[in-house]
Amino acid sequence: MSERHFLYPGTFDPFTRGHLDLLARGLGLCDRVTVAVAAGGKATLFDREERLALVRGALAGLPGAERCRVAGFDGLLVDAARELGATAVLRGVRSGSDLEHEQAMAALNHVLSPGFEVVVLFPRPELAMISSTLVRDVARCGGALDAFVTPGVAEALRRRFGRG
Ligand code: PNS
Repeated sequence: MSERHFLYPGTFDPFTRGHLDLLARGLGLCDRVTVAVAAGGKATLFDREERLALVRGALAGLPGAERCRVAGFDGLLVDAARELGATAVLRGVRSGSDLEHEQAMAALNHVLSPGFEVVVLFPRPELAMISSTLVRDVARCGGALDAFVTPGVAEALRRRFGRG
């Protein structure tokens, strides 16, 4: 059987423990994963170089990290998946609104690229409330971050908000 290569795309502003869990579980289902960090059309807290570095730092110590690559991507997801030779895209769904969004995106991407496949995983219940948006809010207000992000990301958030 040919190599199963998942592309795990996102803005990752910043990368959370929810993202890390999804990646770890995705790794269990394939041979390798490329974490694809989007440019971010919207204004992001961390620029792309910073987000790439934070993802790379968060992967240290992850079992199977040697089967992960972290790269930036611009443009259409289907083009990135094709260029990287990914066999499927990995996405997490936490809620009904996530599901609607992912369904629409998968349908559209399937039209753009008929071979396109999405593997959807649901987060562990204790991680399901984590979103990058909420993490940024907690950091902005000086809350404890360790339950939500890895130490390197927590430190970067504290520095960004002048609390480091
Ligand atoms: O951080 P997110 O919102 O989970 O990431 C979403 C991302 C970057 C995966 C999504 O916005 C994306 O795929 N963007 C690339 C542009 C694209 O291909 N759009 C498809 C049209 S629906």
